Amino acid sequence: MLKIAVIGGDGTGPEVVAEGLKVLDAVAKKHRFQYTLTRFDFGGARYLRTGDVLPEGAVEELRAFDAIYLGAIGHPDVPPGVLEKGILLELRFRLDQYINLRPVKLYEGVDCPLKDKGPADIDFVVVRENTEDLYVGSGGFAHKGTDMEVATQIMLATYVGVERCVRYAFELTRKRNRRKLLTLVAKTNVLTFAHDLWWRVFNQVAKEYPDVKTDYNHVDACCMWMVKSPELYDVIVTPNMFGDIITDLGAMIQGGMGIASGGNINPGGVSMYEPIGGSAPKYTGKNVINPLAAIGALAMLLRHSGKLAQAADDVDAAVMKVVKRLKSLSAGKMGYSTTEVGTMVAESL
Ligand code: IPM
Ligand code: MG
Repeated sequence: MLKIAVIGGDGTGPEVVAEGLKVLDAVAKKHRFQYTLTRFDFGGARYLRTGDVLPEGAVEELRAFDAIYLGAIGHPDVPPGVLEKGILLELRFRLDQYINLRPVKLYEGVDCPLKDKGPADIDFVVVRENTEDLYVGSGGFAHKGTDMEVATQIMLATYVGVERCVRYAFELTRKRNRRKLLTLVAKTNVLTFAHDLWWRVFNQVAKEYPDVKTDYNHVDACCMWMVKSPELYDVIVTPNMFGDIITDLGAMIQGGMGIASGGNINPGGVSMYEPIGGSAPKYTGKNVINPLAAIGALAMLLRHSGKLAQAADDVDAAVMKVVKRLKSLSAGKMGYSTTEVGTMVAESL
């Protein structure tokens, strides 16, 4: 029995999650597995109503689930950072989901903005460290509001945090068994402390994986190569902040936010899967958002939840089929509504 916690969240989150759950129902029937859904109303609406971001005990309650399926967090009526830090980062950190796994894969039939690149050229995975770096919220203000104001925001890297992330990336590169190439993306020429640690740990762990080739890119060069020669990449490992930035770029070269999925992974605990785009307030409630990213996140959830790899492959295959029938992957331009696309995926199972 697969126990899934569902957080629809804000904006278009609930709409795309509903389509994912439609697909879950179809794939569970086909593969004869059982699941339960427990819904949580965390998000902007709840915050505006009650004044709390996460209720007391929420994290402990979520620990009892096999996985969390998340739509999106972020609300136009709430100041930036409140929900993002209070819900999304709080769950990532407290559940120790130290890997943010973001595949970048161009499907057959998807219009690639990089003309001349095809599905064979764009197929890599970004392993983004997910609990450290500039995201820890360490720092502060002095003399706030005066012309003497100083603000600091600390880039934090720990040996343990870097090592477990780098090790996960080496294991994944070996398991993918594609080009067997792992690229560290950092900025060692400027961030000579934090990224020196990354560099040393990367090379140290590499010794245990003689079958995996390694490479290094500065993050700015990586942005260039992702557009110019994405075929160079197999697996990328990178700190949290750079991972955030380069995976938006990755989402674009695979066809857009409509198809980009991600997993916040704690290999020994509860993981959380989400479409990587935001809550898209301007499309909320219009039945126009593309649910394929959320459906892809569902496939990741199934793949990482023990024995359901075949079910996950089937969902991915169904997505690949449906992708070819859409006019575009962008919201409002698919030629179908959100619910129609979800139904098409469910039916092709
Ligand atoms: C992402 C998002 C989040 C992040 C925001 C909403 C806090 O951009 O999942 O990539 O920066 O991690
Ligand atoms: Mg982001």
